[in-house]
Amino acid sequence: MPDSREMNREIDYATLAELALEARKRSYAPYSRFCVGAALLTESGRIYQGCNVENAAYTPTNCAERTAVFKAVSEGERRFRAIAVAGGEKGAETLAEVSPCGVCRQVLAEFCDAETFEVILARSPKDYRVLTLGELFPLGFGAQNLQG
Ligand code: THU
Repeated sequence: MPDSREMNREIDYATLAELALEARKRSYAPYSRFCVGAALLTESGRIYQGCNVENAAYTPTNCAERTAVFKAVSEGERRFRAIAVAGGEKGAETLAEVSPCGVCRQVLAEFCDAETFEVILARSPKDYRVLTLGELFPLGFGAQNLQG
């Protein structure tokens, strides 16, 4: 199920940032104590939230962005417009900008258009920066490389 709010017209960056911050509260990060939340907007206007989910064996850890993407894809969504990301140490009063890791960029590139998909790096609902996926992930390897 998508998370409750929907966004059908203009992308409301502040609301997406707020939903990323809300998801961050559900982060399971007992090892790094670095809590991250994400809010992924589909082309149909639905929003899927995600948080990082760590593991005692460390490598099974899943980032917030991939949690949101995998939730959405597993519900039948494949077309996305934007993702907001917010992260920082557990209990931090102010957050620094957090940018998706390389693995998450690769996963986003599987489904999202480099030119139009927007990544909102949110410190708060009022303090964020918007980049395209292409700016974050130029010259990525993708399905086009496997043809011919
Ligand atoms: N992490 C995310 O969830 N997203 C990012 O963009 C950066 C890193 C998580 C993974 C791990 O649980 C913790 O932050 C520290 O790396």
